[in-house]
Amino acid sequence: MPKYIPEPFRIKVVEPITKTTREEREQIIKAAGYNVFNIPSEKVYIDLLTDSGTGAMSDNQWAGMQLGDESYAHCRNWFHFEETIRRITGLKHVIPTHQGRVAENLLFSTVLEKNMVVPNNNHFDTTRANILANGGIPLDLVIDEGKDPDLLHPFKGNLNIDKLEDTIQKYGKNKIPLTMITITNNSGGGQPVSMENIRQARAVCDRHGIPLFFDACRFAENAYFIKTREKGYENKAIPDIVREMFSYVDGCTMSAKKDALVNIGGFIAVNDERLAEQIKEKLILIEGFLTYGGLAGRDLEAIARGLIEVQKEDYLAYRIGQAKYLGDLLAEKGVPCLKPIGGHAVYVNARKFLDHIPQREFPGQSLVVNLYLHSGIRAVEIGSYMFAHKDPKTGEVNYPDMDLVRLALPRRVYTGGHLDYVADSLGELYAARKTLHGMRITEKGESPLRHFVARLEFIK
Ligand code: F0G
Repeated sequence: MPKYIPEPFRIKVVEPITKTTREEREQIIKAAGYNVFNIPSEKVYIDLLTDSGTGAMSDNQWAGMQLGDESYAHCRNWFHFEETIRRITGLKHVIPTHQGRVAENLLFSTVLEKNMVVPNNNHFDTTRANILANGGIPLDLVIDEGKDPDLLHPFKGNLNIDKLEDTIQKYGKNKIPLTMITITNNSGGGQPVSMENIRQARAVCDRHGIPLFFDACRFAENAYFIKTREKGYENKAIPDIVREMFSYVDGCTMSAKKDALVNIGGFIAVNDERLAEQIKEKLILIEGFLTYGGLAGRDLEAIARGLIEVQKEDYLAYRIGQAKYLGDLLAEKGVPCLKPIGGHAVYVNARKFLDHIPQREFPGQSLVVNLYLHSGIRAVEIGSYMFAHKDPKTGEVNYPDMDLVRLALPRRVYTGGHLDYVADSLGELYAARKTLHGMRITEKGESPLRHFVARLEFIK
């Protein structure tokens, strides 16, 4: 039996959740067009759709909310926010935003010119979309090991340094406004990036005079993996590891909805004063004044406190332990998952799980829908349903490498009992897998973000 690391907190406020019956869920999912984004959250028993903005704040953060100074300019929480981010990252200029994708939009609309390229291990969807929307070309340069769901490697999120070098040779440094590393690598399964890899990327960028940035959403989870997996870091404190990680970059974008342990927020931090000034001008136009950026004073306070709490080692051991616990339970039941288990989620290999359903019939989406029908759990498909699109020139459909179902774990929300239930449900579904059917899209299949809006049905 896998071991569960107890929650390093006790619960003082609870939010009731209720389980619907199978008959109710059949009605609900039908009305939702078999698209789980359309299900009312109150009809979900355990919600693993995302770890973004879904976490529980601590009593210390809620106490901080009461100290919100809602003055328009230079409220006291801004000073705490700015000082905390400067101390944690060592970066000089801090720009608040209301979530991560706005930070991306502000950054890329400032640095990109047409046909410039931005390398990354794997761009997250919104990062990719913001680069494309600003005329740029997003390049995914994760190491080859990071593309094989069964291969064990401690840092599958690493950037391929040779490919980075080749990319710079091919396009020239003037076509690359910055290189990015996403920590941890969400699109590649929540896999971490090693300090050595960050250092090597820095060296390459230095040689060519190209700035290096983090997409820092899950920076603390990445630091915990460095501590537990990378030689020389086992006795270092998490804040020191975090500080070293950031010492190699010139800036970052951040969605505070992840490792700042809050429900809304984000920021950009950069060393380059000129870049900061350019972004700040746009900030006022789009988000708000320089010292609140679309957030309330109380939100800034909760973020500052969350950024400190998230670096506590007992929290991170429990957090990373939860994903591992769920992954180990699933492995015992034979459920195929992406290995090793990442930081914020378990990714079920739906292609293997439903190997009788062809990619064109969306095995991942079938698993997501069947999991909801079976047990009221909401997960999300990351595979053919989300990504397969017709090439407008050839008419051919390009399918992604993997069909995954992500079980993302909200921070400090569910207990070991909930995870046992999730594992049991998936185990039962796995035993009955040959009875499950593929799906077809009935509406809005051509939309570029179709996973949010399309409607489907089962092929029987
Ligand atoms: N970068 C990464 C790596 C992310 O995972 C996300 C969000 C963002 C940027 C954008 O941040 O949502 O605050 O605008 N990921 C969520 C998810 C939505 O479910 O993985 P945002």
